[in-house]
Amino acid sequence: MSFQAKPRVLFSRQEIEATVRKLAAEISQDYQGKHPLLLGILKGSFMFMADLIRLLDFPLEVEFISLSSYGRGRSTPGELKVVQGLRSQIRGRDVLVVEDIVDTGHSAAFLLDYLRKKKPASLKLCALTDKPSRRKVPVTIDYLGFTVPDKFIVGYGIDWDERFRYLPDICFVEVED
Ligand code: PRP
Repeated sequence: MSFQAKPRVLFSRQEIEATVRKLAAEISQDYQGKHPLLLGILKGSFMFMADLIRLLDFPLEVEFISLSSYGRGRSTPGELKVVQGLRSQIRGRDVLVVEDIVDTGHSAAFLLDYLRKKKPASLKLCALTDKPSRRKVPVTIDYLGFTVPDKFIVGYGIDWDERFRYLPDICFVEVED
């Protein structure tokens, strides 16, 4: 890994704020009166989740789940499994999975499949970013913030080998050898 990597802004914090507002409005409309469970995938979704839920104006529950990290973007998922499980009941609930980035799609597809078996009343996916150029397995994203190019995306919760997660903008990393 090069330590000369320099993040450049792809979507500014102002653009992120406007997009999170738009997503919150769509979600608010669809989930009014439903008391859904918003389920974030750790760690990447924590910042997005925090901003999203404070814009939602109806009762909801928040939960996080941790998957075995296999390194984003690998073409094979290896042994993807749940390493920190759920405390909430899924059966009969309206569940909205919150993801920071859908890359190959392995993580989202695995989790949606895992949850579907627990018989939720409804199951949807909200992703802040989507990198469709890298997709290996099909994933339906019900609420999407940004489509991103095939670059190393970092910031606003998204890391590159645990680096740059704290950046307030969504950036891409240019590697300088
Ligand atoms: C990242 C990201 C997604 C997943 C997307 O998680 O947060 O969950 O990879 O990649 P995929 O579509 O190719 O599966 P990661 O495993 O890097 O863990 P992190 O969220 O803790 O950074």
